[in-house]
Amino acid sequence: MRTLAPTCAFLISILLCSTFQIRANPRPGNTVSFDKGWRFHWGDVTNGQDPQLDDSQWRTLDLPHDWSIEGEFSEKNPATPGGGALPGGTGWYRKTFTLPLSDKNKSIFVEFDGVYRNSEVWINGHYLGRRPYGYISFQYELSAHLSFGSQRNVIAVRVDNSQQPNSRWYSGSGIYRHVWLTTINNVSVDHWGTYIATPQVSEASATVDIKTKIRNDLQNSQPITLRTIIYDSSGREVTRTQSNDQLTKGSVKEIGQELSIGRPLLWSVEKPNLYKAVSEVTSGSKVVDRYETSFGIRSFVFDREKGFILNGKPVKIRGVCDHHDLGALGAAVNARALERQLEILKAMGANGIRTSHNPPAPELLDLCDRMGFIVMDEAFDMWKKKKTEFDYHLDWDEWHKRDLEDMLLRDRNHPSVFIWSIGNEIMEQRGDASGIPIARELAAIVKALDQTRPITSACNTVTTDNNIIKSGALDLVGINYSHGKVADLPHMFPGQTLVWSETTSALATTGSYDMPSDQVRRWPPRPATTAKWGNDDYSCSSYDNCSAPWGSTHEESWKALKKYDYMTGMFIWTGFDYLGEPTPYPWPARSSYFGIVDLAGFPKDAYYMYQSEWTSKPLLHVFPHWNWRQGETVDVWAYFNTDEVELFLNGKSLGAKRKTGDDLHVMWRLSFEPGSLTAVARTGGKIVLTKEVRTAGKPAKIILTPDRKVIKADGSDLSFVTVKVVDANGDLVPGADNLIKFQVDGAGFIAGVDNGSQISHEPFKADYRKAFHGKCLAILQSNGRSGKIRLKATSDGLAIAEVMIEAK
Ligand code: GAL
Repeated sequence: MRTLAPTCAFLISILLCSTFQIRANPRPGNTVSFDKGWRFHWGDVTNGQDPQLDDSQWRTLDLPHDWSIEGEFSEKNPATPGGGALPGGTGWYRKTFTLPLSDKNKSIFVEFDGVYRNSEVWINGHYLGRRPYGYISFQYELSAHLSFGSQRNVIAVRVDNSQQPNSRWYSGSGIYRHVWLTTINNVSVDHWGTYIATPQVSEASATVDIKTKIRNDLQNSQPITLRTIIYDSSGREVTRTQSNDQLTKGSVKEIGQELSIGRPLLWSVEKPNLYKAVSEVTSGSKVVDRYETSFGIRSFVFDREKGFILNGKPVKIRGVCDHHDLGALGAAVNARALERQLEILKAMGANGIRTSHNPPAPELLDLCDRMGFIVMDEAFDMWKKKKTEFDYHLDWDEWHKRDLEDMLLRDRNHPSVFIWSIGNEIMEQRGDASGIPIARELAAIVKALDQTRPITSACNTVTTDNNIIKSGALDLVGINYSHGKVADLPHMFPGQTLVWSETTSALATTGSYDMPSDQVRRWPPRPATTAKWGNDDYSCSSYDNCSAPWGSTHEESWKALKKYDYMTGMFIWTGFDYLGEPTPYPWPARSSYFGIVDLAGFPKDAYYMYQSEWTSKPLLHVFPHWNWRQGETVDVWAYFNTDEVELFLNGKSLGAKRKTGDDLHVMWRLSFEPGSLTAVARTGGKIVLTKEVRTAGKPAKIILTPDRKVIKADGSDLSFVTVKVVDANGDLVPGADNLIKFQVDGAGFIAGVDNGSQISHEPFKADYRKAFHGKCLAILQSNGRSGKIRLKATSDGLAIAEVMIEAK
């Protein structure tokens, strides 16, 4: 075999290390992806674990996989519209594989990043175990039951998501995160075996505390050396240390080491500098394991009065809550889809993510580490008391300790994680006092594994007799909503540090506008009424004038956060629309209206309000569209961060406006006449930006705009192609709902289509989609081969469009 020339090897290692690495791999080489070549059967199978079972008729697929997203929407699906109205059920996955004889005496593990839910795993017919919680990562050792050489091994996984409802949002079903196979020596770093903390940090130096757990699976005691080497992000060695120890047979031992780094490059939101610790275990004269841990160096406090202080500087947490689904891709995790979401949020000026209401995919935390997000990592949406009939409360007694510990062990090295949340809107807040001991127990579980981050719980019972707050278990009192109480909170909870764990719940549909824009709708009305409310087309207005009655508009909550430093930060419900929980409407609505960005990834108008407040690049956003009835009264809003904006209708000035007081936008109330609406933004009298909105004519053509023209030919990278229906002048037609058909050839396929509508029942896995307010989305995925990917879009009566992407 030819060996790689050094330059080539170097290039390959750069490629492997760039953005689309699936997730931080602690053991490159020894931990390999186990995603490819599974067989899948939807439905239960008797003896599905039997290695002899003939599965040749089952479907072949690669993981991650979510079978629900492939299904049809129906109100009758047991998930209910609250769970996304897609099918659940039971499914079986099997993979047949061989292992080289040379692995015979090795320790071999399979690791699942997440299976929704009630997974059971067998290797060659031997039962390995069950994990009910659909969001937890777990591994099993396979070594004792494997065959080597030409003999086949069969791993079988049964996934049972048949008992529903078990979630208040769309969960997805199946092995929806990655799977890994680890082959290592019998003396090795344990699973999630390192814990890195930086107890002392200054500009001059940082102390790095590393605890490393080492396993000895051999039948005799072993002398070992643990060498820890720290590299900076350019790959330069910064420092190293080494310890000698003796491991008794069949034991796990924790070894503590302390290192010091001079003039550390700190991790911050703007400059998320990372370091890498490499733990090398030597036994005899051989390096028997090499384990990598990415970490960051930062200091922080949550201050009762001044708020969140990161590396000595106050930072307002401008966060969003998000569920895990990726719109048209469902729950099946895709690193690029996550990265795109974070890019969209970063461009808005957001700096925080709450993983509501469960442990996220590991990739999300890796991306937050690299992109500079402050994460609230949340464990549960319920404890012992249920929210839906078949949810995790049924598994609570047996599993909560293990699941919480595993979340901590997996996530505690991520510099982006700043807050642990032990639960969201837990029922035990009120009523009997059972929440008090549970909260204390959970806090003790967390503190036993990490004392460097505060513990919170997101409370919607904002009263002094809230059991969880009363328990004393929280370092940070998490406040959900309670917009009207914010001024009183320091008096209600004296001596406590606060975080606004959930805010807003504003509602909007991309491209829908209800007038008058300065009248706020609180939907669904409370108390419930038989009087007619809402819009016939199940839309919510995008003027930031619609919210859930327990919530507030975007402007209301941001104004409050700005005013009170003691609200250390906020997490807006939500960054992106998600499947399920279609508040305020019932079926046929099937996805949420809460996002600042819709399900297809198209920003709603409020996105630009945040951008005007949270970023410094000049910004001007004028809306709505300019297609109305002659003489109709239309409110025109502008978000901007310049001194003033002047508006012109068909060349005639309607005056310049400035924001006064705590205004976040300006408005003109106009009588519609078709033509051109032009806004001119000035600072210091100089024109900084100009925006024009024109009355669009009839749909004439399609415009395709990919977010990336070159993607990796790795089988998972994506290009998100925005599809616009425009008139002959190229202006978006706001009412267009043309059916667009797609054709792809070359090195890719359509991974999903969407248009952001909350009531569409068209399938997400399809080669067609209707435009919604003039737009839809096609997601192209690499098929693993290099080459061109051509996307063609056609629609009756419209000029055809084509775009070429390259997979390299
Ligand atoms: C909150 C809850 C979220 C979501 C939201 C909708 O109370 O924590 O999960 O349901 O309401 O407004």
